[in-house]
Amino acid sequence: MIENERIVVTGAAGFIGSHLCRALLAQGASVVGVDNFDPYYSRERKDLNLDTISKSDRANRFEFYEIDVCDQSAITDVLKAQDTTGIVHLAAKAGVRPSIADPVGYSKANVLGTQSVLSAATEHGCKRVICASSSSVYGNNKKVPFSETDPVNHPISPYAATKVSCELIAHAHHHITKLPVAMLRFFTVFGPGQRPDLAMSLFLSKISEGSPINKFGDGTSSRDYTYIADIVSGIIASYLKIDDFGFRVWNLGGDHPTTLNEMIETISQVVGEKAIIHEMGMQPGDVDQTWADLSRSYKELGYKSSTSIREGLESQWAWMQSNLHVVNPK
Ligand SMILES: NC(=O)c1ccc[n+]([C@@H]2O[C@H](COP(=O)([O-])OP(=O)(O)OC[C@H]3O[C@@H](n4cnc5c(N)ncnc54)[C@H](O)[C@@H]3O)[C@@H](O)[C@H]2O)c1
Repeated sequence: MIENERIVVTGAAGFIGSHLCRALLAQGASVVGVDNFDPYYSRERKDLNLDTISKSDRANRFEFYEIDVCDQSAITDVLKAQDTTGIVHLAAKAGVRPSIADPVGYSKANVLGTQSVLSAATEHGCKRVICASSSSVYGNNKKVPFSETDPVNHPISPYAATKVSCELIAHAHHHITKLPVAMLRFFTVFGPGQRPDLAMSLFLSKISEGSPINKFGDGTSSRDYTYIADIVSGIIASYLKIDDFGFRVWNLGGDHPTTLNEMIETISQVVGEKAIIHEMGMQPGDVDQTWADLSRSYKELGYKSSTSIREGLESQWAWMQSNLHVVNPK
């Protein structure tokens, strides 16, 4: 029963974290948010995310702490003070391309941060931990769709390598402590509040204002885009089910790939402007395609993708227009 839970959400000021906090509160859980406001994107965006939580129903059951997840004793103090039952660990330096310039920063926040959270969870006696992994762990897997049983020993960016490492340390931690841990492989997440560095956000802004966009590759690369509400449902389902498994990896995807060319065309239709395209080479670190095999998550979590690219982009565009002061500050 989620309403009896007291859950720490790390990365609560971020895109996925803030949606999850609101959903958990709406379902009756008590939520403790943790974030260090990593400067990867603007503080204003994160303040807006926190503001939407504090204006949501049952916001009196939400508390927030500004803490770096690498600080294990600070995390343990919060877990104890709040008598936390479980953790959803989403805090990370996200994004493939910037990880190439800062592999040490990514390793510290993602790998050390995850070990710190797991160790704090065990020190306090939390009942379970759910961690964000990523479709990027599959690297340039040629076999599609990507299944949880496929090998993930060939990441092609420092970011992806940190996520593979997180899965390995989580497995070892579970093996030693028996703490139930789920690793969720999210496939490119979109919708209201999407991270500003992601292609859909950038293209919605630029195409709508008649500015050119950089298209990397010939447009046939593809992503299995996943709507934020589906990701949130998958996280909550995994929180309720992980005790039955001990350690488990689940894909959370959108059920079919969309090419870059199709994505640009849909965005043009949604904003009502033709895209002006600068053709660029493929970016190092970017994979050719992602596509989730969802049979395990469907069978074990009841997970289903429910929102089309077009519907999701319309919601994302509506959100961007009503939050222009932070989306596109002048
Ligand atoms: N958005 C996607 O498409 C996607 C896809 C795959 C995996 N993921 C993973 O999902 C998680 C959430 O992603 P998001 O898109 O919401 O990103 P986000 O950047 O919006 O949120 C992450 C939050 O973590 C915080 N953070 C970073 N380092 C921290 C630290 N050391 N201590 C405390 N807080 C810290 C940041 O300030 C940020 O608010 C991440 O782990 C990311 O790698 C996201």
